[in-house]
Amino acid sequence: MRGPTRAVVLVGGEGTRLRPLTETIPKPLVPLVDRPFLSHVLDHLAAHGVREVLLSSSYLEASFGAFVESRRGLLPEVRWVAEETPLGTGGAVANAARGLDESFFVLNGDILTDLDLTALAARHRETGAVATIALAPVEDARPYGLVSLDEEGRVLEFREKPAEPVPGLVNAGTYVLEPEAVRGVPAGRAVSIEREVFPALIGRGLRLTGFPSAAYWVDVGTPEKYLQATFDALEGRIRGLDYAAPYLHPQARVSLRAHLGRWVVVGPGARVEARALVEDSVLLEGAAVDEGAVVRESILGPGARVGPGARVEGTVLAEGATVPRGATCTGARVSAGRALEA
Ligand code: GDD
Ligand code: MG
Repeated sequence: MRGPTRAVVLVGGEGTRLRPLTETIPKPLVPLVDRPFLSHVLDHLAAHGVREVLLSSSYLEASFGAFVESRRGLLPEVRWVAEETPLGTGGAVANAARGLDESFFVLNGDILTDLDLTALAARHRETGAVATIALAPVEDARPYGLVSLDEEGRVLEFREKPAEPVPGLVNAGTYVLEPEAVRGVPAGRAVSIEREVFPALIGRGLRLTGFPSAAYWVDVGTPEKYLQATFDALEGRIRGLDYAAPYLHPQARVSLRAHLGRWVVVGPGARVEARALVEDSVLLEGAAVDEGAVVRESILGPGARVGPGARVEGTVLAEGATVPRGATCTGARVSAGRALEA
């Protein structure tokens, strides 16, 4: 039997922890190596038979237009759904899935994974659940939704953002839902699927199934995690992704006298000048590292610039941000269009 052919991908968060990059780029559209993050998510869905994806966001909605346009003619087909004010994860799913009468996938739009979605859907059918939640093992569940299961894989409890640093199985942000799972979600206010919908379904005694998996899985919601996911992709740790390392876009311009580590991405139109050193970093479209500058463990947003001889470490430069000649910074965050302040 075939799995769901439709998916809702949640892309409407503000990407707070990835600021200032997300001041101008929604988190799901930040490129990962060679294409927008969301393209990786959609390609993964296509590989598991999904033909239509529903997307909605009230945050930076306009910037999704070009992305939707660029996917024209590709599978899955993208359908944009209006979300005037942020509806929360549960509200957004209920809103997008209105009218669906078959089971469907729901994915957080910031997860890089090679999870077997076909196996997830098969488990959902076998157990007759109203919702099946993919689970990943972690050492510290605090940033996630902690899930406890009985021996048969039934979800006993869903605890979003536990206060204690406990290890366990957490919500991997990938579900198969029956339409009835979100049917009762109130319209007109933000509703969290994690804090409200899942606990309410469990409270009603409905069957929720947990699907633990050891697949590659990372939430790219922080600069550290975004860089880790990028380096893992360069290392070939994600099934289906295969890149040369460092990854230099065909339109990147790297001086033959520059030094690049292996964990480096240089995007289209980005440049690295002579005697510069770049390690463990991502340079997005049109970013520049001037002569003799040093860049480590940093993300340079579109058109951002590190001046000659400057040293930048653990830093995130938003679109068009600059670090002046000779300046030094560690752990800095520079807003769009701004210069690093001394
Ligand atoms: N359309 C829409 N509207 N999307 C939203 C909204 C909204 O109001 N709020 C958040 N989203 C999207 C975000 O863009 C993201 O793709 C997804 O919903 C999850 O939001 P995050 O802000 O990234 O949540 P999180 O990472 O703290 O926690 C979630 O993901 C964890 C796994 O990485 C939860 O689902 C946890 O339970 C889970 O463990
Ligand atoms: Mg997240």
